[in-house]
Amino acid sequence: MALITTKEMFKKAYEGGYAVGAFNVNNMEIVQGITEAAKEEKAPLILQVSAGARKYAKHGYLMKLIEAALDDTGLPIAVHLDHGEDFEICKSCIDGGFTSVMFDGSKHPFPENIRLTKEVVDYAHDHGVVVEGELGRLAGVEDDVNVSAKDAAYTDPDQVEEFVQKTGVDSLAIAIGTSHGAFKFKGEPKLRFDILEEIQKRLPGFPIVLHGASSVMPKYVELINKYGGKMPGAKGVPEEMLRQAAGMAVCKINIDSDLRLALTATIRQYFGENPEHFDPRQYFKPAREAIKQVVKHKLVHVLGCNGKA
Ligand code: G3H
Ligand code: 13P
Ligand code: ZN
Repeated sequence: MALITTKEMFKKAYEGGYAVGAFNVNNMEIVQGITEAAKEEKAPLILQVSAGARKYAKHGYLMKLIEAALDDTGLPIAVHLDHGEDFEICKSCIDGGFTSVMFDGSKHPFPENIRLTKEVVDYAHDHGVVVEGELGRLAGVEDDVNVSAKDAAYTDPDQVEEFVQKTGVDSLAIAIGTSHGAFKFKGEPKLRFDILEEIQKRLPGFPIVLHGASSVMPKYVELINKYGGKMPGAKGVPEEMLRQAAGMAVCKINIDSDLRLALTATIRQYFGENPEHFDPRQYFKPAREAIKQVVKHKLVHVLGCNGKA
């Protein structure tokens, strides 16, 4: 099976009232943990790569790992650039075999976001690649960019039709109160489902993307705190809210922090219990297994995409 775009995946997800998981990959154990879970659950999959991941692992290494996973699983997999910040990185990923790219123009004024996104869409579509755009701005940390809560902004439903029509994007990431990282809410978690509903009305049948959708699973935060870490107050998006979004127009749900937490917690626990060990295979093995279990849980109990491959 060859890598595919998200076009067909999103159509089925929209009609079926579920969402496809987009999981960030940075190394072999993460790719294997995610893809083994998806294989067992027969789920369609989006593997996404950030600029930071490309810097860390190099584009070519990540592509080879993903190709190996494709051979191993036979699943429909899309490879997606997460948060492309300019035309050059999008072009480089399109030329380098990705089937989907995000151009994140959310920091630009609306007309500039349209102009820059359209440039990427024109190039991508000429090469059979799909594009995710973004309107509104999430709070939180991505790589070196830290968006404070005061600079974050909900998506304005009045802008979505013009944006989609003028840019030609294939999906749209929106801001309804989620944020990147492990500290998403100070008080009670709250998402603006009224905004999502309005956007869904304005763009019938059009796939919406939710970033910042880790639940920050308490089990792993507790383990991190137990074994020498310091993450007091870490809080994520409740799973029932994600299930609600997946039943609406949200077709792609982005999860990275939950994988980082599972990996880190498992390795901390391993060293807490085995301080004399130093063979990386000994601690990467349970860490990879923890990622697999987290992804299985998400596919079945949060996204509802198990059995849909
Ligand atoms: O949204 C950001 C993703 O979690 C990727 O994070 O830029 O640190 O690789 P990163
Ligand atoms: P989390 O930090 O909530 O996992 O969000 C990941 C994300 O949005 C990647 O683009
Ligand atoms: Zn994101």
